[in-house]
Amino acid sequence: MHDVWTLRGVGIKPEQFPMILGCDGAGVLDDGSPVVIHAMIASPGWTGDETLDPKRSLLTEGYQGTFADQVVVPRRNVLPKPDALSFAEAACMGIAWLTAYRMLFVKSGLRPGQTMLVQGASGGVATALIQLGSAAGLRVWVTGRTEAKRGLAQRLGAHATFEPGARLPERVDAVFETVGKATWSHSIKSLKPGGVVVVCGATTGDPEVAELQRIFFLQLRVVGSALGTREELADLLSFCANTGVRPAIGGEYPLSQAPDAFKAMLAGETAGKFVLTTSGF
Ligand SMILES: NC(=O)c1ccc[n+]([C@@H]2O[C@H](COP(=O)([O-])OP(=O)(O)OC[C@H]3O[C@@H](n4cnc5c(N)ncnc54)[C@H](OP(=O)(O)O)[C@@H]3O)[C@@H](O)[C@H]2O)c1
Repeated sequence: MHDVWTLRGVGIKPEQFPMILGCDGAGVLDDGSPVVIHAMIASPGWTGDETLDPKRSLLTEGYQGTFADQVVVPRRNVLPKPDALSFAEAACMGIAWLTAYRMLFVKSGLRPGQTMLVQGASGGVATALIQLGSAAGLRVWVTGRTEAKRGLAQRLGAHATFEPGARLPERVDAVFETVGKATWSHSIKSLKPGGVVVVCGATTGDPEVAELQRIFFLQLRVVGSALGTREELADLLSFCANTGVRPAIGGEYPLSQAPDAFKAMLAGETAGKFVLTTSGF
């Protein structure tokens, strides 16, 4: 989705073009070692959580992206690829999966056994949240727009699925939001008193109603989350290697067919991540 925002001119100025798209990636270094790319690049001299660096940059913003045969990144922006993950699986980790990992394990404060609601069933972040939450022992509830998407969520580990906006059997401990306007009110209304909504995106735009009365009366928390740190990516890779969790891949396309992948994504035909491959992978 980030590439679509870039194509629409969001987060980038005209003078930054030409820009190669693609934030995620896995490949090999010049010495042949297999690696996964961490797409967030901190400013020189920054220490600590790079997601909090006000001058941080991302591949496709300040640096050319990964839809290429060769990619140049600072040395600290590559991590060893676990043998257990294929290149396609590892290539999914850098944005959607890392974002989901931070939302769930760093920002939400959820404990195993609690209940989480994921708004959206088939998206990159949504599928990662479902798989990570289920593997971590959470009760995972999901809204999806079609029966096929809800079926996908169940195959990925969701314990129950619902149509968007449906009344839930009970209120949940946390809601994970990437959709925005179309689901925001439902997210807020689905929370237990003291619950948390973790938000990383607003695909359908800003909500018209903020639901402030409910937020303060029920002492809800609204927590923003953006990507994740290098250390969190290392932990995510380890989590996947240890648990056997693998990203749902909705399709693999040669790089030359990237427009077809984008069109399918924009048409909502998602079933996990689309992976673009270059020769040799
Ligand atoms: N802050 C960050 O670091 C960060 C990182 C990654 C992504 N994001 C943002 O998060 C958002 C999602 O990214 P993604 O890669 O997961 O996108 P994606 O793969 O295109 O998924 C879109 C999701 O939104 C749901 N959706 C879209 N329109 C909807 C509607 N009208 N009603 C209900 N659900 C709707 C879809 O639900 P269905 O399954 O029902 O189709 C799907 O789950 C984007 O806005 C992206 O920019 C932010």
